[in-house]
Amino acid sequence: MEQIRRIGMLTGGGDCPGLNAVIRAVVKTAINDHGWEVIGIEDGFEGLILPGKTREMRISDVRGILPRGGTILGTTNRANPFAYVTREKGGRVVTRDVSGKVIRRIRELRLDALIVIGGDGSLKIGYEFYQKGMPIVGIPKTIDNDLSCTDVTFGFDTALDTATQAIDRLHTTAESHHRVMIVEVMGRDAGWLALEAGLAGGADVILIPEIPFDLHKADEKIEQRDREGCRFSIIVVSEGARPVGGEQVYQPTKDPTAPRRLGGIGQWVAGELARMCDHEIRVTVLGHVQRGGSPSSFDRILGTRFGAAAVRLVANGRFGEMVSLHGEHIEAVAIADAVSQLKTVPLDSDLICTVRSLGICLG
Ligand code: F6P
Repeated sequence: MEQIRRIGMLTGGGDCPGLNAVIRAVVKTAINDHGWEVIGIEDGFEGLILPGKTREMRISDVRGILPRGGTILGTTNRANPFAYVTREKGGRVVTRDVSGKVIRRIRELRLDALIVIGGDGSLKIGYEFYQKGMPIVGIPKTIDNDLSCTDVTFGFDTALDTATQAIDRLHTTAESHHRVMIVEVMGRDAGWLALEAGLAGGADVILIPEIPFDLHKADEKIEQRDREGCRFSIIVVSEGARPVGGEQVYQPTKDPTAPRRLGGIGQWVAGELARMCDHEIRVTVLGHVQRGGSPSSFDRILGTRFGAAAVRLVANGRFGEMVSLHGEHIEAVAIADAVSQLKTVPLDSDLICTVRSLGICLG
């Protein structure tokens, strides 16, 4: 096994609370346990494509960052080196494979390993580089909790708490005004955030991507509550949810280089429900609030354990692997397995069963 002297680290994709806890743990473990040099790469893989975006990270650079949201390294979800999009003079959009440039840069920087902290997108890119011979180790992050082979990703717990608190707040105003409150939460194609925030926040209806919905059922639930004297209802809708036989709703964009973004289903549900019931309806889109703020204790600890464990993987030459949580233990899994399919909510899971037992409508 080659001796490790210098490692690189980047954060890619959408940010989430806990990234700085990971960065801090990687820097401290690499320096304290091994005396390695750590190179921070700014703005995800873009930092290996564009010049001047790397910096050495010392222990003094990570002091005080544990409770901070976001990532001190910066990130982007628009810099896939295998399909790098640029806008040429005259506005022409060009997509190029610049992976060779990234490999050259990794060599120029004399990185003996590269730790990729990312979700499904960044880890897929990391895996492609691993297949090209690069010494990659992965750390799973995302508020969507949609990565396979780990019980949970860091960032999810904090986002869940943020969404739950928002639902709590909407409850009181919904009750005062006898309104139907629709809360649209993030999560892409997985319903974890909507389902768990809805459960924790006492929602009456939860709509998730895994179960295409029929709004007549939601309307029936609202009417049933009315008859029982509860003249308000809370609907949590995942941004990736869609009606039976219908499509997901995407945000409009004029930028041809921008990836498609989910968003708008809450407003769509409100419009349809307004045709069915007499209640006043209001929509709240939680949006990026869910990605911000100080990480929960759980995410700080998980992120710290992941960071330290990733350094151990590097020390043992376990490239192509990703740290993961299984029960109480941090284990290593193949990145290939983790990104092979999205982890969506199993319809026969205890969570779904519990939600149904509580009389919550799943549409
Ligand atoms: O993957 C995390 C996430 O927050 C998704 O839940 C959401 O669909 C997406 O990122 C939003 O991306 P952006 O920050 O580019 O708007």
